[in-house]
Amino acid sequence: ADSPLDIAPVAGRIGAEVRGFRLAGDLDDLTIEAIKAALVRHKVIFFRGQTHLDDDTHEAFAARLGNPLAHPTVPVAEGSKYLLELNSKEGEAASQWHTDITFLPAFPAASVLRALVIPPTGGDTLWASGVAAYEGLPPALKALVADLRAVHTNAYDYAASRPEASDEQIRRYREIFASTVYETEHPVVHVHPISGEKSLLLGNFVKNIVGLNRDDSARVFQILQDQITRPENVVRWRWQPGDVAIWDNRATQHRAIADFGKQRRHLRRATIAGTIPVALDG
Ligand code: SIN
Repeated sequence: ADSPLDIAPVAGRIGAEVRGFRLAGDLDDLTIEAIKAALVRHKVIFFRGQTHLDDDTHEAFAARLGNPLAHPTVPVAEGSKYLLELNSKEGEAASQWHTDITFLPAFPAASVLRALVIPPTGGDTLWASGVAAYEGLPPALKALVADLRAVHTNAYDYAASRPEASDEQIRRYREIFASTVYETEHPVVHVHPISGEKSLLLGNFVKNIVGLNRDDSARVFQILQDQITRPENVVRWRWQPGDVAIWDNRATQHRAIADFGKQRRHLRRATIAGTIPVALDG
């Protein structure tokens, strides 16, 4: 269908830039519907040059997309109502492939990420399409995943995923991200509530695949993660300060690229509540 927005795809399977558009907290309903439609279609949409936004207008705009959700364990960014602070000074970033907050039964529908300070080089973000990943599976793997379920938790073994992290970093990380432990089970493939598309749902919060021993669980997980994050299923965004990226958290994974050393990288994220994912058989 035609969109009133000027939309230019950024990669073949995922990602589009909405050009010449000024985000605001008081956009009309038709415009909000067009943004939501572009989001479901392209999975992640980018807006350059939104330097006029502040925390208030960022939050007001996000609230037009759905119900805002503060992170369940991380305190909100200073001065904001529910924004998540992503402020790197020591080169740390969310650099493992993940879908946001999948350790909640009703995990977020979308996130709205605004770039404040971006290093001159490095610190790009990647998004991958769970829908393209599912569609690209051979029939035998589609049959395998149809009935699989996975346990997601924030009490993940961070040491295993970041072997270079110091004990102190791991302790601090656990204190912030897993001060309360959440654990839930999701289908490995779910039906998108708006598009009806089937999407793989895994990422860094997965502890294990239900019914498999640890080694088999890790192997099956890796086969599917590799499929999701194939370069053909991915878009990469080179940030400028003032850029806003909005992603459909039900159809994507993402990760930052931690290649910016000790340069400052500062973003703030609004997160929109979602619903409990629905398996292929309902
Ligand atoms: C996030 O995981 O929401 C942040 C990604 C980034 O810092 O690029």
